Amino acid sequence: MALRLQAMRGDIAQIASDAAIVNLFQGVTSPGGATGAVDRALGGLISELIADGEITGKRGNNVLIHTPTDRYDGFAPKRVLVMGLGKSEEFGIDDVREISAVAAQRLSSISETATTIIHGAGIGGLDAQEAAKAIAEGAVVGAYAFDKYKTSSKTSEQRLETLNVVEFDDAKIPLVRSGVGLGVSTGDAQNLARDLVNEPANVLSPEAMRDVAKQIGEENGFGVRVLSIDECLAMGMNAFCGVAQGSQRPAQFVHLIYEGDPTNSSNNVWLVGKSITFDSGGLSLKPPRGMVTMKGDMGGGAAVLGAMKIVGALKPRINVHAVLPITENMPGGGAQRPGDVVKAMNGKYIEIDNTDAEGRLTLADALGYARANGAARIVDVATLTGAARVALGTGNAAVFGNDDGLVKSVMDAAETSGDGMWRLPLDATSKRLNRSSIADVKNSGGAPAGSITAAHFISEFAEDTPWVHIDIAAVSMVTGSRGMFRTAGATGAPTRTLASLVVSLAG
Ligand code: BES
Ligand code: MN
Ligand code: ZN
Repeated sequence: MALRLQAMRGDIAQIASDAAIVNLFQGVTSPGGATGAVDRALGGLISELIADGEITGKRGNNVLIHTPTDRYDGFAPKRVLVMGLGKSEEFGIDDVREISAVAAQRLSSISETATTIIHGAGIGGLDAQEAAKAIAEGAVVGAYAFDKYKTSSKTSEQRLETLNVVEFDDAKIPLVRSGVGLGVSTGDAQNLARDLVNEPANVLSPEAMRDVAKQIGEENGFGVRVLSIDECLAMGMNAFCGVAQGSQRPAQFVHLIYEGDPTNSSNNVWLVGKSITFDSGGLSLKPPRGMVTMKGDMGGGAAVLGAMKIVGALKPRINVHAVLPITENMPGGGAQRPGDVVKAMNGKYIEIDNTDAEGRLTLADALGYARANGAARIVDVATLTGAARVALGTGNAAVFGNDDGLVKSVMDAAETSGDGMWRLPLDATSKRLNRSSIADVKNSGGAPAGSITAAHFISEFAEDTPWVHIDIAAVSMVTGSRGMFRTAGATGAPTRTLASLVVSLAG
């Protein structure tokens, strides 16, 4: 059962539900706003629990109070969950998402309906629409579980069906309503990306991923173009096709077109997502340890598809193209060999140093295709290098680019969305590592600066088009949870950042 969210005007103490979610900043002894109103309706019970030291307002101090309606006259909710917001001076929009996710998880097995106030919109000083959006994102993303293959013992018993986002001030209701709508749409899109990454590779074949892309295109009225491997070969995409030739399953090259500014075709951005549905490494075979998570090697394409779903809902005034070069990287009898040389769509010759550096080969031709079709800006997103994790850990994706303005737009969008990103350099010293003795460039620069040499390789195919590359290898799928908003497994990053970038570029 999917969680339903709705904006509502009213007094939270008067709205019947299984639980009312209120909050408290650390150090506040006498609650104000909606929490104060609930406290008064309960005869000062919250103030008493604060005085007793049970409710502290600290982050993680989330106290559930049972308020049976027959014992608390005139108080409609059956429970009150007081969420600790932490220190007010440290509080921001990321905390709203996290706290909303925690509350949704906490109530998921005990409530069918819940009502929440908008954390941060009162004395927190956050914009009502932004905060309402973050509440919705937190709840939708926080309620996610990938348990379709568990026929017994589901990880979470999801009973929560309805979450009311309540606001007392009439004037703010339109903002709250639109914020909730936006947040549901972005949260759902992020969960779509997570589903695709979590889906095993026997199920999510290149054809299955193409079908998901086609469906998103059709549902949103986008142009949909699917090229077969023969068509890709005819266009000169030998780098992409070389990766595909080791697999029994046919590769698919998908191009979705959203025309938000049809009379001005140069007002465009191209989102390119690495879409390797399984990366065995090819003949440069991965060891088992490294191969086990490689069903997620299409996380870039998944985030691009999620972002396109949001674009379809928001309809910004800009043309947005999504390109997904979809294939497996397998070591079949037809597989390309280390030492092979292939000619990419833009005419450059590539020496295959390592067949496991396949993502950059598929991106080379996806960028060639984008440029040949009039791309004004390109942003590629890829689970590209294990080295990104070595350099930055799992808190930040690595960002590269040849255009400071576009890099800044991406970084700003990441900041608003709460996706960690950190820029790394495209330095000339590292670039030398990609030199080939027999071709224009080779596809691996070896171990040092592995994320940088990968980015340098892609830049050969971006040429002079403004371009940003986001290496999400360390953040797309994580083993440990960091709170309830970013839990173990597929994160769906950076779906919301891409959508927010598109909106900001539309101006
Ligand atoms: N898909 C991998 C990168 C990856 C590693 C993603 C770990 C997520 C988690 C990529 O295709 C790859 O194999 N990269 C190689 C490059 C090397 C051969 C130059 C790597 O990182 O080892
Ligand atoms: Mn690989
Ligand atoms: Zn890969």
